[in-house]
Amino acid sequence: MLKNFQNKYDPDQDEVEDQFPVRNASREKRYNKAHRKVDQSKQQALKAQAQQLHEQSDQQETQFEFTYLASRHEREWIVNSLGNFYQEHWLKDVLRLVKGGKEAHVYQCLAPDQRSSEANPYLAAKVYRPRMFRNLRNDKLYRQGRANLDSDGREIIDDRMLHAIQKRTRFGMQLLHTSWVEHEVKALQTLHQAGADVPEVYASGHNAILMSYIGGPDMAAPTLNTVELEPDEARPLFARLVRNLEIMLAHQLVHGDFSAYNVLYWEGEITIIDFPQVIHPEKNRQAFRIFERDVTRLCEYFSNQGVVCQPRQLAADLWTAYNYRLRPEIDPALLDADDPEDRAAWQRNASR
Ligand SMILES: Nc1ncnc2c1ncn2[C@@H]1O[C@H](COP(=O)(O)OP(=O)(O)O)[C@@H](O)[C@H]1O
Ligand SMILES: [Mg+2]
Repeated sequence: MLKNFQNKYDPDQDEVEDQFPVRNASREKRYNKAHRKVDQSKQQALKAQAQQLHEQSDQQETQFEFTYLASRHEREWIVNSLGNFYQEHWLKDVLRLVKGGKEAHVYQCLAPDQRSSEANPYLAAKVYRPRMFRNLRNDKLYRQGRANLDSDGREIIDDRMLHAIQKRTRFGMQLLHTSWVEHEVKALQTLHQAGADVPEVYASGHNAILMSYIGGPDMAAPTLNTVELEPDEARPLFARLVRNLEIMLAHQLVHGDFSAYNVLYWEGEITIIDFPQVIHPEKNRQAFRIFERDVTRLCEYFSNQGVVCQPRQLAADLWTAYNYRLRPEIDPALLDADDPEDRAAWQRNASR
């Protein structure tokens, strides 16, 4: 598993400004005055050093050349995010952009000969945008009751790191970003092992996941929302997706963004994707509501394909079959005293 690279590049222009903040002009003037007489030879040595570093980084970049024609910025982003996968021979080429969204870009890549099978020599690389988790509406809802994971997938317990997360410093935001990626990796690994229909993860980094690619050489699998199914095909696929929801519940996972948009369809088979927002059915107090929404969205698609479904009943039946409570006990440890909603919930609970 690859863990040791940093994504320094940010495709958002404002993020670039964040990284190189405009310095205070008057401070700069004072600084220049004091350092005007810098030794000439020292300056030359620094120049030579900078030139060398520049050449080195150019060399590094040219080492990882790929077929996909990207703009200069995107190219840098790909090199920073997938460079280590390339160095460690997990992939040998980036062929095309499958989809670029607000939260992630997914690329079709080519596996090196020793790792590829004739049937499917491709891999999918999901590269997260730096502001991914900030785009997620209501991220607090998903983070409730969920550990913050470090780049090894372990819960962060270090006070300094937790403080940075709480204060949302730049370091804290970076930690949060890694945590979203790690939650997706963990969920995919757990579910793949449990036999669910999800891609297999091959490697992951701070900013990217390399997983099995679903689709053909020229076209990635479409998402199910774009597919019209025959009734004969719709019913068994619906049953299969419900079975997958059961596997998730059995492993204490609620997808959190389940819908036909996050199901790939290829040659009659389905694959569920996009797990960074997974939640725990007992630790998140909104878990049943989120699960019910997942089931409802799935049913919306399938009822258009001629399958009769009752989402609310189905959600409640599945939930209770796995022994989860429809009205969870409120764990005081999860309450935020500064949150009026939490305080109201606590009062309601206390007066029962
Ligand atoms: N393993 C994969 N194989 C093929 N295409 C994929 C794969 N994973 C994702 N995609 C494509 O990339 C798109 C975005 O991936 P997703 O994980 O849903 O991220 P987002 O958060 O941007 O929705 C999907 O809608 C799908 O078209
Ligand atoms: Mg998606």
